[in-house]
Amino acid sequence: MLKDSPQHYGSVTRAFHWLIALLVIAQLTSVFSSFLWEHNAYSLLILPWHTTIGVSVLTVMAIRTLWALSQLSRRPAHEGRLQRLAIAGHVIMYALLILMPLSGALMTWGSGYGIHVFGTAWFEGADAPWAAGFGKLHGTFAWLLSFMIVGHIVMAMYHHFGRRDDTLRRMLGRKDPG
Ligand code: HEM
Ligand code: HEM
Repeated sequence: MLKDSPQHYGSVTRAFHWLIALLVIAQLTSVFSSFLWEHNAYSLLILPWHTTIGVSVLTVMAIRTLWALSQLSRRPAHEGRLQRLAIAGHVIMYALLILMPLSGALMTWGSGYGIHVFGTAWFEGADAPWAAGFGKLHGTFAWLLSFMIVGHIVMAMYHHFGRRDDTLRRMLGRKDPG
């Protein structure tokens, strides 16, 4: 099923979730591993694509947000305090997934480099110190997002192996065996 239902996330929501997870984990791990081990083969492979991957995340996130809003009333219910906290966590992640590439794009544009996606200049550089200033936030957003993602994965594991409920299965697209 394409659309969400109270029992499962539909294939569109799942495709958005796992595509963004893959791209964002590639972005974060390629930068952080280059801090620990400069010029490692993995970072050398991914980092030249940092802007292209980041702009792709921004574009896909804009569409994903509209899709999520259209599915709100159909999605699995989140009742109780802990579940409402999970929803708040998801909203914060949506905000960071948009602010993260937006701050990177404003930084490179405002410091004169322009924004090059798949080898083409989407925007020529400008001398805009207000935009370049977003570079300071880019690193802070990256740490906040990393923290949220680690907590998110820990909670997914807790649901699956601790509480043995179907929270992970409904995002993997597998039927509840019970
Ligand atoms: C999902 C999207 C993105 C993620 C997760 C991400 C992640 C990161 C991280 C972790 C850093 C290192 C920060 C630090 O020095 O502490 C970084 C640096 C950087 N990012 Fe991104 N980024 C994203 C999108 C973008 C985009 C769209 C652009 C440009 C259009 C961009 C341009 C840069 C630049 C130029 C640096 C180097 C900044 C510096 O050394 O001060 N990033 N990014
Ligand atoms: C960059 C990594 C990730 C990000 C940014 C992320 C973000 C999100 C967001 C925003 C949601 C809310 C549903 C939606 O609108 O799509 C969600 C749901 C979910 N994610 Fe992730 N996710 C990531 C990685 C993972 C991983 C690696 C796992 C599993 C190990 C996972 C398991 C889940 C599960 C089980 C749900 C459903 C939670 C529920 O129904 O309450 N996520 N994720």
